[in-house]
Amino acid sequence: MLNIKNVCKIYKNKDYSQNVLKDINLCIEDQEIISLVGQSGCGKSTLLRIIAGLEKASSGYVELNKNIINKPSSNIGMVFQDARLMPWLNVYDNIKLSILNDDKETQRYKINETLKKVGLEDIGNLWPKQLSGGMAQRVAIARALVQQPQVLLLDEPFSALDSFTKSNLQDHVRHLWSSLKITIVMVTHDINEATAISDRVLILNKVLDNKITKNHIVKINKPRSTFPKNEYNELINNIIFNKNSNQFNALI
Ligand SMILES: Nc1ncnc2c1ncn2[C@@H]1O[C@H](COP(=O)(O)OP(=O)(O)OP(=O)(O)O)[C@@H](O)[C@H]1O
Ligand SMILES: [Mg+2]
Repeated sequence: MLNIKNVCKIYKNKDYSQNVLKDINLCIEDQEIISLVGQSGCGKSTLLRIIAGLEKASSGYVELNKNIINKPSSNIGMVFQDARLMPWLNVYDNIKLSILNDDKETQRYKINETLKKVGLEDIGNLWPKQLSGGMAQRVAIARALVQQPQVLLLDEPFSALDSFTKSNLQDHVRHLWSSLKITIVMVTHDINEATAISDRVLILNKVLDNKITKNHIVKINKPRSTFPKNEYNELINNIIFNKNSNQFNALI
């Protein structure tokens, strides 16, 4: 279980201090898939970086299975908005960066298996410039998955992609999630994407001190195409306009 306990983040420099996250409390169960939405600048990426151990909370802490996270670990993989592949390394070597401590044979096995999982067999020799945006994002996902993390953090991973590729990769993420049994926390600006992919949609609210004020449980049965359109629209409406407060606060 991922436990985010009283996390606050204040960015300070000599001229000002900015309170970005305040008293964030959140429990994410193993194998949950959740989306984090909220307006630009409300601290979503900051929270994800803190969970990843890439940034320190000003106070509070994050625990994975009761172990405090204070540095990046192979238990937690992260995918950023842009693929961030090293242009001077081919796909194989880009993925290898995550498992440099393994021996060569294990690396080869893990990299090939992971490329298969993201639907990109036999492209290890290609260079980043030879990849489409969707392929590059899959390689970035492979780089995070190759270390066999328990938790995968996705920071707006599909925002730069066209809607066809995006929808294809969304399906792929759900498929990966169900086959790998990992926990996924995804930041997105796209409410449709959030409700399509996740079990829960959490809203980080900038106006109210950046607390997670709303815990919208996405009650959509699978397959989701059978979900009644009017209920789906109502759900989206509730999320956007912050209604249904009786569903909230379960995680505060
Ligand atoms: N390293 C930093 N130093 C100072 N301020 C920062 C730093 N990183 C982020 N911030 C500030 O913290 C606030 C939250 O930033 P963050 O990137 O977490 O927002 P976000 O919700 O991910 O926004 P977006 O949806 O636009 O990606 C912003 O006002 C930003 O300027
Ligand atoms: Mg961000």
